[in-house]
Amino acid sequence: MLQLEFFPRMEFKSLLDFQRLENSLLSFKDKNLLINYPDFFLSPKANEVIRRQHSAHVDKILGVRLKYIEEMLIAEARGFDLDGPHCTWGPTMHEGVQTWVGLDLQTLQTPYCEISRILKLLKIKPYEHIIDLGAAYGRMGIVVGGIYGKNTFVGYEYVKSRVDEGNRVYKELGLSKCQLIAQDLASADFDLPHADVYFIYDYGQVEHIDHTLKQISAVSRKRPVKVVARGKFTKQIITDHHPWLDLKYEGRLEGNFSIYTAYIN
Ligand SMILES: C[S@@+](CC[C@H](N)C(=O)[O-])C[C@H]1O[C@@H](n2cnc3c(N)ncnc32)[C@H](O)[C@@H]1O
Repeated sequence: MLQLEFFPRMEFKSLLDFQRLENSLLSFKDKNLLINYPDFFLSPKANEVIRRQHSAHVDKILGVRLKYIEEMLIAEARGFDLDGPHCTWGPTMHEGVQTWVGLDLQTLQTPYCEISRILKLLKIKPYEHIIDLGAAYGRMGIVVGGIYGKNTFVGYEYVKSRVDEGNRVYKELGLSKCQLIAQDLASADFDLPHADVYFIYDYGQVEHIDHTLKQISAVSRKRPVKVVARGKFTKQIITDHHPWLDLKYEGRLEGNFSIYTAYIN
């Protein structure tokens, strides 16, 4: 068993470094140590292919069984619609909710290095509460729990098997302030809890994202909020229908996400 505490200067300079870790037998304590290193979440190169490979290594090192769970979901989908297309699988299986079953695994989730960049740009203060709306396996919670230990994180996700796997990993890593909750965000009886930061990456149908943004608008009448929007649909809905959100950051090189603030008095 590798004991990382005896290797105080870990190097994360190339994908090989991550590959080596992937092939090592790591204890939960080792994994917990790894997620405390900010560099662990940084991709060795900025290009999209390496960013995705880096994230795949991180998932494997931490033991997130997303491939297995997605394959089970796909097998279930094929049972009633053999050839797809995959964009109809999620809604058919999940009461009309677009759960992106069959989507490439690295497209389904935001790369770790981008999550790390977003949290840095947000200048997260201790004890701020962060919510991911449509969280899949809860990657953001792993970065928050590892690097921002004084913050709390909740991710809402429709697909129960993703929620259970994410929570299993949080438990193994000892991330007691992070949690995933199985919830349909579009449900009429869901009251959006207050948070300092809301993260939305094109989570489902346009009308569902619009509904969530209206709920955030109601929260922003009571307290200041930051909203991180990733994906072209969410950003377009904000531009077209949510002028109350004040654009604060629009990355030139990082076209994938934008940051907004709001406090409606
Ligand atoms: C594109 S993924 C983003 C995952 C994560 N936020 C990230 O950036 O890594 C969107 C997730 O939202 C979930 N989702 C879609 N519609 C939902 C709904 N109505 N309620 C809760 N989750 C939903 C999907 O199942 C999917 O896992």
